[in-house]
Amino acid sequence: MSPPPDLRIAVDSAGLQRRIDELALISEAPAPVVTRVLYSEADMRGRDYVRRAAREAELSVREDAVGNLFARWEGSEPALAAVGSGSHTDAIPNAGRYDGVVGVLGAFEALAALRRAGFKPRRSLEVVMFTAEEPTRFGLGCLGSRLMAGSIPVERAMALRDREGRSLDELRAAAGYSGSLESVRLPKGYYHAFVELHIEQGPILEAGDIPIGIVEHIAGPSSYRVTLHGEGGHAGAVLMPSRHDAMLAGAEIALAVERAAKGSGSPHTVGTVGVFRIEPGAVNSVPYRAYLEIDLRDARLDTRSKALAEIRSAADQSCARRAVRMEFEEINADPPAAGDPDTVAIAEAVCAELGLRSLRMVSRAYHDSLFMARVSPTTMIFIPCRNGWSHRPEEYATPEHIASGAEVLAHAMARLAV
Ligand code: GLV
Ligand code: MN
Ligand code: MN
Repeated sequence: MSPPPDLRIAVDSAGLQRRIDELALISEAPAPVVTRVLYSEADMRGRDYVRRAAREAELSVREDAVGNLFARWEGSEPALAAVGSGSHTDAIPNAGRYDGVVGVLGAFEALAALRRAGFKPRRSLEVVMFTAEEPTRFGLGCLGSRLMAGSIPVERAMALRDREGRSLDELRAAAGYSGSLESVRLPKGYYHAFVELHIEQGPILEAGDIPIGIVEHIAGPSSYRVTLHGEGGHAGAVLMPSRHDAMLAGAEIALAVERAAKGSGSPHTVGTVGVFRIEPGAVNSVPYRAYLEIDLRDARLDTRSKALAEIRSAADQSCARRAVRMEFEEINADPPAAGDPDTVAIAEAVCAELGLRSLRMVSRAYHDSLFMARVSPTTMIFIPCRNGWSHRPEEYATPEHIASGAEVLAHAMARLAV
């Protein structure tokens, strides 16, 4: 581990908070709700805001073919692998203002604070705003970082369609991004290390009154698309024994997801049916089609696989009993990621030197770091958030915790860059 550069970092907490609040106003829904779906008008205005904030932090900006944005402070040896940080600014429908944003604007502030402290990096420092960490548009999370890490075949990315049938190519072109998707992949060894700052999105730090979490593992997410084809008809006329109700088969599958996750044998298994649509969606009509998306995650692959097998078997049984035809498609099944022990140790040492208590943690939410960990030594810095709330407008982190997170990030990046 390199000796710590002797730095007096003063994070501009008020300025950082102001920027977080300003970005929150760029939303598809009225405040306090934040919604910024990939390539929507709000996402595009959010990107403008981020570009401006990067320039204010005196960083040079480039964007790749899907809109991953890189804001760089060139080091004295620019040929060396850079030290990266960053997160996302897209937001699921009905989200809050901190998820992802703290990791982008907080990293700009960390670099600005390093500059004010007179730090001269040897390695370049780079902040990334990843495109589409959230799966809202294409049903697949971490699109930008997957492409950067080469973790999704380009043909698969080209085949993605949103709910309206629009392709990634069509949408990125409309957003002003061109060039081959192959070019998004990072050259080997591009980052020397990557450290993402993020709110915890869970209750552990707040409950323990611990200001900083350091991520050692990120749980492996998987998701599945289930389409059920039943038979419709008049809700008054089709008698109960003759029904092939797609919604009821879907309801049984949703309950099977809960049962399988609870009974997997691992406390880390979580299963959710977050999308459930039925057609035709009329009160006096038997649903002939149901469409579900299942999110199943675990820190362990064996228990996640066991839960999936149980869900599949329950779904087969339900559909057979109801004579409903099922298509069950995997969207993604990603392995968990491990944090890099040296990078984790650096973040931990920084906390100790700053007199901040820290805790090594598992991230149950996924992050772009899940994919950065495949191409770079990686860890994450977590800060507490109120009641562990996230993905809802009440999401909140105190300015003090955000500033501490940015301060730890600045020191960790400086140490990695000398
Ligand atoms: C990321 O937002 C996740 O769903 O974990
Ligand atoms: Mn999120
Ligand atoms: Mn996030």
